[in-house]
Amino acid sequence: MQSLTIQPARAIRGEITVPGDKSISHRAIMLGSIAQGITTVRGLLRGEDNFATLNAFRAMGIGIEDDGELLRIEGKGLHGLDEPGDVLDCGNSGTSIRLIAGLLAGQRFFSVLTGDQYLRNRPMGRVIEPLSLMGWSIFGRAGGDKAPLAIVGRELKGIAYTSRVASAQVKSAILLAGLYAAGETEVREPHLSRDHSERMLRHFGAAVETFGGGVRVAGGRELQGREIIVPGDISSAAFFLVAATIVPGSELLIRGVGVNPTRTGILDILIAMGADIELLDRCDLSGEPVADLLVRSARLKGIEIGGDLVPRAIDEFPILCVAAALAEGRTVIRDARELRVKETDRIAAMAANLGKAGVPVVETEDGMEIDGSEHLKGCMAESFGDHRIAMSMLVAGLAAAGPSVVRDVECIATSFPDFTELLDKVAVR
Ligand code: S3P
Repeated sequence: MQSLTIQPARAIRGEITVPGDKSISHRAIMLGSIAQGITTVRGLLRGEDNFATLNAFRAMGIGIEDDGELLRIEGKGLHGLDEPGDVLDCGNSGTSIRLIAGLLAGQRFFSVLTGDQYLRNRPMGRVIEPLSLMGWSIFGRAGGDKAPLAIVGRELKGIAYTSRVASAQVKSAILLAGLYAAGETEVREPHLSRDHSERMLRHFGAAVETFGGGVRVAGGRELQGREIIVPGDISSAAFFLVAATIVPGSELLIRGVGVNPTRTGILDILIAMGADIELLDRCDLSGEPVADLLVRSARLKGIEIGGDLVPRAIDEFPILCVAAALAEGRTVIRDARELRVKETDRIAAMAANLGKAGVPVVETEDGMEIDGSEHLKGCMAESFGDHRIAMSMLVAGLAAAGPSVVRDVECIATSFPDFTELLDKVAVR
């Protein structure tokens, strides 16, 4: 188990790019594999989660070459996947297991999906229920709710499904199965979750239509290989946005960040708390909006966060907790029960870590209340095997009164292998 010691910083300064968007990278590999012809992907995130997806498609007979710059996928069409000769291991990646499950539902072969100890404990019933309604046969532990999942592909029929949770993984699994289903497949969700699948499906030529509260896809239509350029991941940029905000005297430019409105909750929340963030040079890449983000340090104040802001910032709550810990007054987070079923229970994990840093936190069932303080204490924090908890506590360490230690940091490689190098590059000590 590897630990990292982090020293406080005097400022965060410079110009960086962050690695490619994780969600978009997964979808580019998946859709490229089931499209007809060649798909090229530039800016792919080369993290462990995306390699899990890539290896799964290689194991199903898809030729994928990677020269470290460009990924070249030889798509074989909707029905071109081969039965895998072994279990498909999705590692820590919820997006891999849930989206690939949707895709496998319509294949005419047998497959098994599994993952690491954390993934095997996360709920799968949320995708299994709608896929079963489409005609899928699935077996899993805990009555089908937990991986490993054994899948026998079937003829699928389109459904109209209303999801109880605003989850892009659930929505995307159903849409991918819908590509194989007879007729149309419709998904409604309580709040709009990230819409990268809808955008990329459209980019590949699928018949996708969005309407108030939902999206529908027509089955049976082949996709065509495309060129994809993946923007920087706003969820990775978030650590640097907060770092430069909370360390006085900072100014940082983050180039080429994806600013899809279903992902920019972090910007809206930080700006409402008083952050100084500017969006510059907006453009569009492969159907996704992109901008440079210029951030300068600012004194934050506590706010209330809930409702449809939650899915728009769902992966950013650990780092938002760090911002709240240094804000003036109380921050209240509600409607965020989903945080309890992420890579770890992120409410409990951040409450425990911030408590050690001397910040009073009250956990609620669907969120938390954080009373901000002027200073954090240097402490010994735990990652709980969750990359975003590890990175958040390293950022907290930049603004602490003394050195901090974060334990079990290997998990950072799932989404941001070069995180510590990049942090060292911009931290002035
Ligand atoms: C993701 C969707 C979100 C997010 C995850 C990536 C995706 O999960 O937390 O990191 O790529 O679709 P949920 O759909 O479970 O909210």
